[in-house]
Amino acid sequence: MRLRDKVAIVTGAAAGIGRATVAAFLREGARVAAVDRDGAALEGLPPDQSLATYTVDVRDEKAVGAMVHAVAERFGRIDVLVNNAGYGTFGTVVTTDEAAWDDVMAVNVKSVLFCSKHAIPVMAKGGGGAIVNTASNIAVVGIRDRAAYVAAKGAVAALTRAMALDHAAEHIRVNSVAPGPIASRYYDEMLRKSPDPEAFLAGLRARSPMGRLGTPEEIASLIVYLASDESAFATGAMFTVDGGMTAW
Ligand SMILES: NC(=O)c1ccc[n+]([C@@H]2O[C@H](COP(=O)([O-])OP(=O)(O)OC[C@H]3O[C@@H](n4cnc5c(N)ncnc54)[C@H](O)[C@@H]3O)[C@@H](O)[C@H]2O)c1
Repeated sequence: MRLRDKVAIVTGAAAGIGRATVAAFLREGARVAAVDRDGAALEGLPPDQSLATYTVDVRDEKAVGAMVHAVAERFGRIDVLVNNAGYGTFGTVVTTDEAAWDDVMAVNVKSVLFCSKHAIPVMAKGGGGAIVNTASNIAVVGIRDRAAYVAAKGAVAALTRAMALDHAAEHIRVNSVAPGPIASRYYDEMLRKSPDPEAFLAGLRARSPMGRLGTPEEIASLIVYLASDESAFATGAMFTVDGGMTAW
């Protein structure tokens, strides 16, 4: 029960890393607001008396503000915010059009701005809390043909540091997690959209010392640590879990 009595918002909660985080948080005693734009998938989450679901597109500030207000009303406080919703697209700077760039920046970066802007005053009023942003190991190493996504995750890592400094005095810790390739719907989608799936997989295996994808649960357990008081002295840092990919 490492999160007993804590109230947590998790975005991108209906699938993959977010869904595994919701399950881990509930196991650890948290009350959880699961946020996703996919309402049907949210309905598929196992029912739990400590779980509330909110169908919200995190690119929409008005909807995010209303969700944060509703969570604070329902649970009385907010202790943890996990800014996890996100995805990428293929493309170099030459082949990425403005709409695709703006969308990748909105879902990965602007969403952190919107959710944090509305949640931080509530967290501060309750005495503090912890924010965990899902970056990626591509925040520190480049990969080919994903220019907008690499830029967006680099921005998430940098924004994490800025937020940590700005809100330390309010006892709000802000860290990011940097997963390597994780077996999830996002990953399946990238594989499906890849112009050359075989080459995509071969490139991945060649860069992976452990020779496998990670699981959403292997990231969720790190997020539990960063959300809990066990990580009380950690802020402004990026924590990598990538099977050794960035070690070479
Ligand atoms: N899977 C990987 O290999 C990997 C690696 C590094 C980082 N990440 C990051 O981890 C996070 C979670 O990815 P995942 O692999 O679990 O993906 P996923 O596709 O399995 O789950 C993402 C969830 O986010 C939701 N979502 C997408 N856009 C949204 C929006 N605008 N508003 C609200 N919800 C939205 C989706 O509906 C989905 O339920 C993302 O930020 C992703 O960039 C993933």
